[in-house]
Amino acid sequence: MSVIQVRGLTPLKGEIFIQGSKNAVLPMMAAALLHKGITVLTNVPVIRDVACMEDILEHLGCGCCREGNCLIIDARQLTDTHIPSEYVTAMRSSIVVLSVLLGRMGEGSSCYPGGCLIGARPIDLHLMVLSKLGARLKEKDGLIEAALKDGEGLKGTEIFLPYPSVGATEQAILGSVLAKGVTDIHGAAREPEIGQLCRFLNNMGAVVCGMGTDHIVVQGVEELHDSNFCVEGDRIVAGTYGAAVLAAQGTVTLKGVCPLDLKSPMEMLVRAGAYVRSREASREIEVTMERRPLGLGIETGPYPGFPTDLQSPFMAFLAAGAGRSVIEEKVFEERFGTVDSLKQMGASICAQGQCAVIEGVYPLKGATVHASDLRGGAALTVAALAAEGTTTIRDCHHIERGYEDICRDLAELGADIRWVNEACTL
Ligand code: UD1
Repeated sequence: MSVIQVRGLTPLKGEIFIQGSKNAVLPMMAAALLHKGITVLTNVPVIRDVACMEDILEHLGCGCCREGNCLIIDARQLTDTHIPSEYVTAMRSSIVVLSVLLGRMGEGSSCYPGGCLIGARPIDLHLMVLSKLGARLKEKDGLIEAALKDGEGLKGTEIFLPYPSVGATEQAILGSVLAKGVTDIHGAAREPEIGQLCRFLNNMGAVVCGMGTDHIVVQGVEELHDSNFCVEGDRIVAGTYGAAVLAAQGTVTLKGVCPLDLKSPMEMLVRAGAYVRSREASREIEVTMERRPLGLGIETGPYPGFPTDLQSPFMAFLAAGAGRSVIEEKVFEERFGTVDSLKQMGASICAQGQCAVIEGVYPLKGATVHASDLRGGAALTVAALAAEGTTTIRDCHHIERGYEDICRDLAELGADIRWVNEACTL
């Protein structure tokens, strides 16, 4: 097992091409099953979650062929309708495959995804959406079985989401694409990844409008066609590397990402003292930092609010900042799992319930810490850039779920960071 070793306090400099978006590509891969044919995705990141979704598609009978960052999905034949539990446990978002299986095969089953390290994460809204679209649901011994009445397909309907859940909005859109009639989704999530999913679906022959608003309308169609689609750059990876610049100082250009999608995080970088220039046409953001970050007040929320996925990377640079910061986590109830590791590195953080108060300490101190989840693990690499001495990060498989190679990327920008075989550190 490899660990990440970082020797901090080296400024970052250069430019980096941001990998394709994890949260956009996963529902697109699921959506490819709706079409009895070929779907080609480009700018697909090489990360564990994508490999897990490929395994699911292959288990269901699809062919997946990867050539670099291009993924070809052949869904001409599906042979199974059950998503095995090991995949659902590894990646909760696989639950959106259920609506696709219902649309294409008339049935689907999955184990119930349990809670995880960032909170209970119920799926009540997903189940509500499926039953509104006409699915009959049975839950027994942790297994969810969804089926349609004999000879009947999914039916267009009116869905009201009481909270703009990203996954439940995707479930509703995917379930409506092949449904009979029109589906109105009220209270939909407005995350850019939802907009991308809708554009991807329209490109394969679906009729979806209203993306980017909280009212999405889907006119069901009978069939889709072969298509090609290029996935946008990952705004969360870009935001993580922006946070890295604030921790380490320096100047970095983030390329291949849509600046508008990062409006709220960029505003926070500026308030913390960074100089940020974005170029929408060339899809670039340049971040310069020449001082210790000023304290911030951050409240996470659904888009266009501050993304919960960037809460821990931002906490990491604020821990090495020059003032007091307050972070309120409003999306997930237990997303301060990284606080203990940051404290081991000398940070002064008091977290209670969904609020954390951070007093900046500089420099942080190198320590051996454990990644407890994907974004929390990435946050530890950010903190390590502002730490004196060596930081060793264990359990990096969490980071590999969403970052192609965080060491490669930060080393390219001049950071002293590397993968080390754990046996060499004992
Ligand atoms: C997606 C993203 C994740 C991001 C999150 C919020 C993917 C693969 N993952 O996760 O990176 O952190 O959006 O931006 O795209 N909820 C319910 N019932 C449900 C569904 C959700 O109560 O049926 C609650 C959740 O517990 C959570 C909140 O709604 O408190 C937001 O969750 P949701 O937007 O659904 O996040 P995900 O789709 O799981």
